[in-house]
Amino acid sequence: VTQYLADWRPYPFEVTQTRLEFDLAPRTTRVRSQIGFRRKDTGDLVLDGAGLKTLSLAIDGRSLDLGLIRADQEKLVIPAADLPESFTFEAEVEIDPEANTALEGLYLSGGIFCTQCEAEGFRHITWYPDRPDVMAPFHVTIRSDKPVLLSNGNPMSNTTKEAVWHDPWPKPAYLFALVAGDLVAISDSFTTMSGRKVALNVWVRPGDQDRAGYAMESLIRSMKWDEEAYGREYDLDVFNIVAVDDFNMGAMENKGLNIFNSKLVLASAETATDGDYERIEGVIGHEYFHNWTGNRITCRDWFQLCLKEGLTVFRDQQFTSDMRSAAVKRIHDVQTLRARQFREDAGPLAHPPCPDHYQEINNFYTATVYEKGAEVIGMLKRLVGEAGYRKALDLYFDRHDGQACTIEDWITVFEDATGRDLTRFKRWYTDAGTPRLSLSEEWRDGTLTLNFRQETVPTPGQPDKPPRVIPIALGLIGPNGDEVLPTTMLEMTWAEQSFRFDGLGARPVVSLLRGFSAPVTVSREITADEQALLLAHDTDPYARWQAGHDLALDALIARATGVTDGAEFRHAIGGLLADAESDPAFAALCLWLPGEEEIATTIATRGLTPDPDAIHAAREALARDIASAHEQALARLYDAMDNPGPYRPDAEGGARRSLRLACLGLLSRIDAGKRAGTLFGAASNMTERQGALECLIATGKDGDALVAFAQEFGSNRLVMDKWFMVQPLRTAPGLAVARARELAAPPDFDWKNPNRFRALIGGLTGNHAAFHAADGSGYGFVVDWLMRLDPVNPQTTARMCSAFETWTRYDAGRQAHARAALSRLAAMPGLSRNTAEMVTRILAGA
Ligand code: ARG
Ligand code: ZN
Repeated sequence: VTQYLADWRPYPFEVTQTRLEFDLAPRTTRVRSQIGFRRKDTGDLVLDGAGLKTLSLAIDGRSLDLGLIRADQEKLVIPAADLPESFTFEAEVEIDPEANTALEGLYLSGGIFCTQCEAEGFRHITWYPDRPDVMAPFHVTIRSDKPVLLSNGNPMSNTTKEAVWHDPWPKPAYLFALVAGDLVAISDSFTTMSGRKVALNVWVRPGDQDRAGYAMESLIRSMKWDEEAYGREYDLDVFNIVAVDDFNMGAMENKGLNIFNSKLVLASAETATDGDYERIEGVIGHEYFHNWTGNRITCRDWFQLCLKEGLTVFRDQQFTSDMRSAAVKRIHDVQTLRARQFREDAGPLAHPPCPDHYQEINNFYTATVYEKGAEVIGMLKRLVGEAGYRKALDLYFDRHDGQACTIEDWITVFEDATGRDLTRFKRWYTDAGTPRLSLSEEWRDGTLTLNFRQETVPTPGQPDKPPRVIPIALGLIGPNGDEVLPTTMLEMTWAEQSFRFDGLGARPVVSLLRGFSAPVTVSREITADEQALLLAHDTDPYARWQAGHDLALDALIARATGVTDGAEFRHAIGGLLADAESDPAFAALCLWLPGEEEIATTIATRGLTPDPDAIHAAREALARDIASAHEQALARLYDAMDNPGPYRPDAEGGARRSLRLACLGLLSRIDAGKRAGTLFGAASNMTERQGALECLIATGKDGDALVAFAQEFGSNRLVMDKWFMVQPLRTAPGLAVARARELAAPPDFDWKNPNRFRALIGGLTGNHAAFHAADGSGYGFVVDWLMRLDPVNPQTTARMCSAFETWTRYDAGRQAHARAALSRLAAMPGLSRNTAEMVTRILAGA
């Protein structure tokens, strides 16, 4: 069944108090609930429940007929006529956490009881109005033999075998959490700006404590940052984080009790890469920041998901830029947006940040809702300025604290705070698709005229695309490299619009879309020399990187489509290497060639059919050329970027290591893996270890290294996930499917663990030319595994279907293989609603 935004109605009751009592047992957990209701409007009492064994139901102590349960609809409907104005609803149900392999509701992960309730998991725990606009204080009693018993809010009492928790802040059921297990904490405290002392704990399995320190440091930095940047203070006596090994997503912001995928908590120099550390800091921040943007102010309904997610991603991006390098962070974010969101926007799964219908909400935790949602806020901020943004956010927290809100409320806050009319801007929330911005230039008598055009191609269900408001930040760079116009913000509101700059001495080069001021694709006429000029002299780090990136992309596409080229890029790299030590992070970003997926996307956007094998060959050839042309400079830099002294997971060290590995990647193409072999043996941190291993796999010189790696880390699940991921990802395309098949053999491939499944299957889908193998073997292998996982874990299966979202851009032969594989999946008896929705939408793209 499809849910529509237009059908949303207020819930006719208020919940005054929710009391829950858990008697935990792996196969037979008892849940008793007492829920206070007060009528607000006419209507029956409708509660959600799924897979519950209901033992009893009562209203004010009078038992109810279990026949009121409509199991097929997962609803319990109590007629309005049987209900007083205020009453207490009681239920006793039994659930089976051990059988819960979907990891939604209450489940067991390695013997630890834990929960995941967003979006609609609470209905798997007991009968409840499981919708985000119904908020209540929770009072929770947990009885269990497990030593540590946690829930939301503040601890009330804690004796052996029983703990009582009270959460005074009204919250929707999706923020409920419970954890019970044999856990140990590393503990610290934080004193908030108004002097409240908060106890902080990061709970992990015994033995993992020495890898939890960075998560704690990140939490403390997050709490401090939210006070300084947004004036937001924490509001309970305790803040608990728990790491579990089995988790469908990254982490969850349950009030006062964040639950994390252990890969986003545990880190040590030996086991985690610089990238892992950065993600841990970012996600710890993200979940913490949800306390205000998500929990104190939540969403009225799930169509508004991006109200909390877009804003919280935007906030975690700001946090990371403040903690590390703002330039590098922005470039990383643009790379992710392009790789994941642009591709989503261009295919059959395209949807706006604020969708107006869905079948399964869990399928909408997407790059569009999260990352594009964050970009839209970035544009708002650019339009209203720093002070306007701050004013609007203060008003938002002031006006809506304690409420369940809509995107409409959010926009209104900006209008009220700044006096701007944002009616047209709102289209960014409701319209899908990435606008294409074209620029043509005219130059006469010292006047430069920029003619812009915008166009968005139709997306599923949205044939017409009116123009959007596009903030275009630009600067002008003179022919000798001087900046003749600093960053200026143009506001494009029409389909076509021109802007003039006069009094210019010589014709400058436009540094366009500085800071990536809007999530659009750009088409413009620019020569390789002009791109090289920007790469050498642009003052905006993003635009400077983009110029080099475009130069590389053009060189790659020329090769992949039969023209041998790339001289300008090779030459530009020379200049870059000479100066690389002054900004290693930037040099590293430029040295990583655009990935095969991005090359394919760009070719498809230009109306051509990408050939995965040709793309792979072109990228390898260009890398080899660069390596041969600059061997000495690369080798010198590789040695210079050595990191003596103890490992520190900060931006400076990370920059040196990323430049070192970028050099290694290129050099490996011509030194037969010699340096990579040495580094693999000598490195004392996982960043260099994994980097070297990836080079060895790509060169086919990996045998000993893989054995050594497995011997050293065999007992560490998170590190072994890397081992499972890098092999299908980096193996030469012609061999990768066979290798994935070998790796998938029992017993080490614990496929019911989402991290392990994503490592191996996701590793292969990330190997562009292997997944899109002309014989269809990649598609077939992946679908075999999706069919196996779906009955066990529909959420993770459905998410991984998006690997197929680009299938219609390839040639007829590949399309036929993809269609056959997808049809096989679609036809599987008992296919989950999650996966069925994804496959139907993807197949409809043809
Ligand atoms: N709200 C969480 C976050 O962004 C994501 C959890 C979503 N989980 C799910 N099963 N849909 O941090
Ligand atoms: Zn979030």
